[in-house]
Amino acid sequence: MRTRIKNSISSGMAGSVCSVSGWARSVRSSKGICFIVLNDGSTLDGIQVVAEPILPNFGAICRIGTGTALTVTGILVASPASGQVWELSARSIEIIGAADDSYPLQKKRHTFEYLRSIAHLRPRSNTFGAVFRLRSKLAQAIHRFFAERDFLYVHTPIITSSDCEGAGELFRVTTLDALEPPLLEGTPDFGQDFFAQKTGLTVSGQLEGELFALSFGDIYTFGPTFRAENSNTARHASEFWMIEPEMAFADLAADADLAEEFIRYLCRFALNECSEDMTFFDKHIENGLIERIARVAEAHFARMEYSEAIERLQRSGITFAYPVAWGLDLQTEHERYITEQIVGGPTFILNYPKDIKAFYMRQNEDGRTVAAMDLLVPKVGEIIGGSQREERLDRLQLRMAELGIAKDPLWWYLDSRRWGSCPHAGFGLGFERLVMYLSGMENIRDVIPFPRTPRHCEF
Ligand code: 4AD
Ligand code: MG
Repeated sequence: MRTRIKNSISSGMAGSVCSVSGWARSVRSSKGICFIVLNDGSTLDGIQVVAEPILPNFGAICRIGTGTALTVTGILVASPASGQVWELSARSIEIIGAADDSYPLQKKRHTFEYLRSIAHLRPRSNTFGAVFRLRSKLAQAIHRFFAERDFLYVHTPIITSSDCEGAGELFRVTTLDALEPPLLEGTPDFGQDFFAQKTGLTVSGQLEGELFALSFGDIYTFGPTFRAENSNTARHASEFWMIEPEMAFADLAADADLAEEFIRYLCRFALNECSEDMTFFDKHIENGLIERIARVAEAHFARMEYSEAIERLQRSGITFAYPVAWGLDLQTEHERYITEQIVGGPTFILNYPKDIKAFYMRQNEDGRTVAAMDLLVPKVGEIIGGSQREERLDRLQLRMAELGIAKDPLWWYLDSRRWGSCPHAGFGLGFERLVMYLSGMENIRDVIPFPRTPRHCEF
């Protein structure tokens, strides 16, 4: 039976027989012996296989290329080489799938740009092995965090008829003929479409999540979201994953407290349970990463009013590319300046002008701001966006009318304010931005298996 290389290394006993399968990372011969580093993705380093001429297919083994799939049965022995505890003295080696020297992942270091063009193979490299192991474990840690706090996990729909953020970034879902759609007064007649209305891919599970919070108290969603936003930055993807908790009987302060506890939990988790990969990132991706994350795991996150943030940016004396003025949204350069230079750590910005935020946020008594919060972190900028929701039916309807948002398609959302409405709040954490933050990777395309960005949807 196949043993994972990670387990054969961690629970290895000298002299025990084990059988492992994986892909050759390197092959070299020395003094009539062939050394193969075999990796099966379970761990960063893999295991060194030692093949000697006594093997019946020794000649063929010596000629295998990097990337070859092998099954090796052998005996674990203490390794005389430095940097590894065990090696596998092979008793049999079966070549399962050959790889010749046209295999694109040869030993040399490749650029991330090049590796993106071979996204079907890059998980076999050290960096992407570490990234996707971390990503997988973090997803499980997120479920664990909410399970420990009795939050209900709800699967909100992917196809939807509502644009939660109101930014018009919905990808259309339709079965109408693109070339000759049925027309009604000169425009496509979505009444004849599959769902008999205009539909798209969800930008957020929040609106449906709120309905569940108003039934179960504390809930969260964790799923893919889609935005047809034509911004080609290192932080935006057209398809990304978002975690959205929602709490009934909670206000903005409770929302920020949960977000802080959540991020700190995930920092501790990464340090404690992904230490091999975190050490790799610290060494090869961002020097000082572990120290940075360890500090955040213990830190108290700062809280700053939007108005104060604007004043401090204006007083900074820095010339930014984008203007800074009350009423304008913060750009990544501003966000990074606040969290990196002014505060020097994670920072919540609270109570934004209502005109730059979504319709559902709770209106403050000043008449010009809403109970919104963004969590900014060094390097990444905004990692979380959230708010207390407008639970007062009349206020919500007025705001929707001001923004020209039709009431009819959101009848069900308005109903939640009609019967048993209560203060509630929630936020969205961009999963890829979290993985970037914890790994030090600087481009969102390098923390999602098969990135979708404007003009790119290969694989
Ligand atoms: O700030 P956003 O747009 O908030 C919402 O969608 C709310 N409905 C969340 C809620 O209150 N339940 O998005 C939340 C987070 C951002 O802070 C960012 O981390 C991430 O989602 N995000 C993106 N990540 C990658 N690519 C994009 N295009 C992203 N847009 C937002
Ligand atoms: Mg946001």
